[in-house]
Amino acid sequence: MTPLWSGRFAKTPSDAQSALSVSLSYDQRLWREEIDVCRAHAAELERSGLLEPSGNLAISEALDQAAAQLEEGTFFFAASDEDIHSAVERFLIETLGDVGARIHAGRSRNDLVVTDLRLWLKQATRRIARGVYDLQEALYRIARDHEATLMPGYTHLQRAQPTVLSHHMMAHAFGLGRDFERVIAAYRRCDVSPLGAAAFGGTSLPLDARATASALGFGKVFDNSADAVADRDFALEFLAATAILSVRLSSIGEELVLWTSKEFGFATLDDAFATGSSIMPQKKNPDVGELSRAKSARVTSNLVRLLGVLKGLPLTYNRDLQEDKEVVFDTADTVDAVLGALKGAMQTISFHIDVMQAACSEDAGAAGIAEALVLKGTPFRQAHELVGKLVAAAEVQGIKISQMDLSEYAPIDAGDLRLLDPRIGVEARSSHGATSADRIKEQFARLETLMDDEERWLAGFGAY
Ligand code: ARG
Repeated sequence: MTPLWSGRFAKTPSDAQSALSVSLSYDQRLWREEIDVCRAHAAELERSGLLEPSGNLAISEALDQAAAQLEEGTFFFAASDEDIHSAVERFLIETLGDVGARIHAGRSRNDLVVTDLRLWLKQATRRIARGVYDLQEALYRIARDHEATLMPGYTHLQRAQPTVLSHHMMAHAFGLGRDFERVIAAYRRCDVSPLGAAAFGGTSLPLDARATASALGFGKVFDNSADAVADRDFALEFLAATAILSVRLSSIGEELVLWTSKEFGFATLDDAFATGSSIMPQKKNPDVGELSRAKSARVTSNLVRLLGVLKGLPLTYNRDLQEDKEVVFDTADTVDAVLGALKGAMQTISFHIDVMQAACSEDAGAAGIAEALVLKGTPFRQAHELVGKLVAAAEVQGIKISQMDLSEYAPIDAGDLRLLDPRIGVEARSSHGATSADRIKEQFARLETLMDDEERWLAGFGAY
C-alpha cells in the first residue's frame, strides 16, 4: 500500500524509514478529535461550495462508521498509515472514492495534528483540574476534622514549633489552588484553533477558519498561520503546570511515607491504599506516597524533553514536532493516576492524634518564650540568647525546661513557661495566616471561597 503523498515518489518508504517516522502507535489516541475535526472541515467545504451537501453527508456517515470501528477496536489500519490523520483519510477514500478524496482540500496534517492535540488537551486539562480540586477537597476534609489537632511543625525536618493539622493540610490545599490556576491557564492557552492554517501559509480556497474554530468549540482562532502550525507553547505550558503540580504531589507523598512510618507513627493508611511485602508479613507499605514522589521525575522530565525538542527549531512545521505527543500523553496519564491514588489515600487515612500531640516536644515552645520576653521589652536577640541558655541548661541537667529553676534567667518567669504547652503556643501565634483558632477560621473561609470559584469553573460557568 502506498502512502497518501506517493505522487512524486518512485519508491515506497523503506522499513527503516517507516520504523522511525510512523507515529500511529501513539497518535491513535487522538482519533476522537480527528473525527470531530474532519467533520468540521467537511462542513466548511460544503459551506464554501467545494463539497456537495450529499458529499458532506456521505463523509459524515463514513466518519460515524470509522468512529464506531475505532471505538470497538475493529478499525483496520493499513501498513501505509503513518498516523491517525492518514488512516482516517485513507478510510474515507476507500469507503467513498472521489468524495472521500475531496476532504483534504485546504488542510494539511500540519494543522490537523495540532488542532487534534489542542482539543485533546482541553479535555485533559479540565480533567486534571477536577483531579486537583478533588485532592484539595480531601485535604480540606482532613483539616475540618482536625481543626485543633496538635502536631509538631517542622523546618529542616526538625521539630520547630507546634502547629495544628488543619494548618498543615490547608498549606497543601492553598498550594493546590495555585496548581489549579496554572492548569486552567494552560487550558485557556489550548483553546485556540489552528485549523485553516493548512501547511503553514493558509489556503487559496474560500474556507473560513473562524467558522471551523467555533464549530469545534474553540474560544479563539489563530492570528498567523505560520505560528498556528509551529507553536507548541500550549503543550509546554501544560507540561510546566503539571510539572509544578507533580512536585507538590511528591512532597505530599513524602509526608505520607514519613508519617506512616513506625518512627513517626502519625498516621495509618487504609488497607486499600497500602501494599504488603512478599516476604515480610508484618509490612504495610506506603507505595502511594513513594510513587507520587517518583512519578514527579517522569513528569518534570517530560517538560525538559519537549523544551529540548523545540529549542532551535526554525519555523514552521518540522517533523521534530511529532515528538510532542508522547510526553503530553504520558504526563496526563501519570498525573491522573497520582491524583486519583493520593485522593483516595487522603480520604481514607487515619491520624493518631495522641502520637502527634506527644511529638510536640516542650522545647518547640522556646521561640514562643523569646517572643514573650520581647513583649516585656527585652530586645529579641538578647531574649533568644537567654532562652537558648535555658534550653541548653535543661538539656545538660537532663530535666524539662518547665522544671528549671528560673532565678538566673530573669526576666523569664513562670508565666512565660506556660508557652511551652503546645496548645497555648499555637494559640499565641495569632498573626495573619498563623495557627491560632481565629486565624485558622479565616483560612477556612478563604479556602472555601477559592474552592467555590474552582467549582464554578469546573461546572462550566463563571470566569476564574
Ligand atoms: N504525524 C505527524 C505529527 O505528529 C503529522 C504531521 C505530519 N506532517 C507532515 N507534513 N509530514 O506531527
